[in-house]
Amino acid sequence: MKDRYLTFALGKGRLASKAMELFEDIGITCEEMKDKDSRKLIFVNEEQKVRFFLAKGPDVPTYVEYGAADIGIVGKDTILEENRRVYEVLDLGFGKCDMCVCGPESSVDLLKHHEMIRVATKYPNIAKDYFYNHKHQTVDIIKLNGSVELGPIVELSDVIVDIVETGSTLKENGLTVLEKICPLSARMIVNQVSMQMQTERIRELISDIKRKL
Ligand code: PRP
Repeated sequence: MKDRYLTFALGKGRLASKAMELFEDIGITCEEMKDKDSRKLIFVNEEQKVRFFLAKGPDVPTYVEYGAADIGIVGKDTILEENRRVYEVLDLGFGKCDMCVCGPESSVDLLKHHEMIRVATKYPNIAKDYFYNHKHQTVDIIKLNGSVELGPIVELSDVIVDIVETGSTLKENGLTVLEKICPLSARMIVNQVSMQMQTERIRELISDIKRKL
């Protein structure tokens, strides 16, 4: 029974547009959202009792953990980095890329020995987990907020931990993938209480989406 709104938090950008295409495919629409000039932050479909809002990717798991959104669409990179208490229920199969250690070819040896190296990244938790727990290498993690490829170029760091999709950013900046950490893609996450309270509606949504993947 649709007695309350189901609220979706979408990571701004490409993931959000792809997610909306997928929702349209299963008959969930939100006309308001198609107006590109709109400065509105939240969009409602009264008839279907759904609400959508756009948020910065890293904030999506936060909204979902606290129940401000029942459902979130966000990259696996953000899920790993934010480590929030949410259920990850579905791999949506788009936004595929890899989390990698990258750098100049000359840095490859630095990863073979347990040397202290500098790692620049937007993902300090993923980088820490990889170097400390998997490679058992002590590193100095330097948090950046974007254009991480600059790190090795301006000698801020020896390597970077970042997302690689087509590889063209690396190539154009003389860098290469040195080690792959894990594959990534867009995922659906669900608030733990919503999953109990709206089980039927959420399960139906998941199976409708699965049929389209
Ligand atoms: C991401 C990522 C890489 C680039 C990888 O950056 O951090 O820089 O895309 O894509 P490619 O392998 O297809 O070149 P984004 O565009 O999100 O900007 P940012 O550098 O500000 O994080």
